[in-house]
Amino acid sequence: MNNNIPETAQIIPSDFVIVGGTGHLSVRKILPALFWRFIDKQIDNKSRIILCDKNIKSREKFLKILETHCSDAISKDKDNNKVWNDFISIIKFIELDVVNSEGHLDLLNVVKEKFNPNRPIIFYLAIASNLFADSCNFLRDSGLNVEQSRIVIEKPIGKNKSTAIEINKKISEVFKENQIYRIDHYLGKETVQNLMALRFANTFFENQWDNKNIDNVQITVSETSGVEERIGYYNEYGAIRDMLQNHLLQLICLVAMEPPSYYEADQMRDEKLRVLKALKTLEKNEMQTGQYRSFCDELGEYSSTETFVALKVAINNWRWSGVPFYIRTGKKLAKRASEIIITFKNKPYDIFANLTNENKNVPNRLIIRVQPDEGLKLMLTSKAPGPGGMRFFPSELNLSFSDTFSDRLPDAYERLLMDVVRGNQTLFMRSDEVLAAWDYIDPIVEIAKTQEPQLYRTGTMGPEDKILHLDGQSWIDPKD
Ligand code: BG6
Repeated sequence: MNNNIPETAQIIPSDFVIVGGTGHLSVRKILPALFWRFIDKQIDNKSRIILCDKNIKSREKFLKILETHCSDAISKDKDNNKVWNDFISIIKFIELDVVNSEGHLDLLNVVKEKFNPNRPIIFYLAIASNLFADSCNFLRDSGLNVEQSRIVIEKPIGKNKSTAIEINKKISEVFKENQIYRIDHYLGKETVQNLMALRFANTFFENQWDNKNIDNVQITVSETSGVEERIGYYNEYGAIRDMLQNHLLQLICLVAMEPPSYYEADQMRDEKLRVLKALKTLEKNEMQTGQYRSFCDELGEYSSTETFVALKVAINNWRWSGVPFYIRTGKKLAKRASEIIITFKNKPYDIFANLTNENKNVPNRLIIRVQPDEGLKLMLTSKAPGPGGMRFFPSELNLSFSDTFSDRLPDAYERLLMDVVRGNQTLFMRSDEVLAAWDYIDPIVEIAKTQEPQLYRTGTMGPEDKILHLDGQSWIDPKD
């Protein structure tokens, strides 16, 4: 697979069929991403977007709402109002109930209008995973599981390992593995892909990337938003299944994996799988959960669902033995920021032992800022210029992607949707990865059931730490 495709190479005309097409994910992520690709002319008006949903009230009302979610793109250029009108002209609506197979003839008829073996049909299931099996059966019964079809499914796949096995089985009865795209949008984020470049296109860091040189790794994915209209879903899944099982574990994999022989789907997935399989089963005192104070009020009843989770992850292999990975994620926290912080070991011997200076022993750190203000920072110790002897101060090498690349960084969904059309599965998960992730997570969910989440105030960084201080460490909060 050649990944060096010109930046805006046009895709071949395709049908994007979004099941759950008027829902939260579609409106906020999938359709704005398709619109950006349409602005950049990667998608043209020979493609179609077919939004399927149970109840489609008013097309006009829906498009008005969608317009607000695309307002950044529309206002970027004065001609984009016209582009917006062209874009909405390729959108079709179909009332479809996958459970009761209502509307399948309408969908079939619309797809048939442009049916040809070279025209990819992308079925994006932007619905709960307990509906995936019904959706696949429905697509098979409608004769839509043809060679040129691809199916995109969202995380979390299942609620535990056994439901994930069941879902994978049902999907694979209808589609072949190379037609199944298990999306984890964190893999499509620019800085997450850059982690691959940082590690494997340079020698500098990879030579330091092990337990001889690294003291610990911290990963923080903090959000300021709450759960809003997704509270029903979220109350069932919580932070462990919503974020940890997928996004955070994928970040750990990319930091910890061995270099694959090629940057290619199965090689990448094999290496990530090895990391997932090397994760040490978590002990009770290596995890804490939290819940933001207004969660139960928003829900209207008592709930012990966690909106925050922190844990100490250990990887049982030669490279990482003894290096803790401290991971946390939560809603309604002080800052929206995702960061990976690699703290290097301190120097083996101090030639400045006779100098007293508070900055002398600050360890080197590599801070990978996933979002916002994407970039890399390397924290070093330098000599303060001028007289006064050897005075140290913490300095930083700063590579800001937003400053370096003045243009907007594309959203993860833009890249991933184009990869689906092109048949590139490198940034998608394979079924064995999903199952290995559940192998690690299932016991964590059981531990969480035995702990009452600690309440925390909105706008803080979650409950007071109960894990890191045991190792003499503390969280490093994201800075502005
Ligand atoms: C989704 C989760 O997968 O990722 C949401 O379901 C979360 O709960 C979102 O808010 C975070 O994504 P991003 O790209 O905003 O960091």
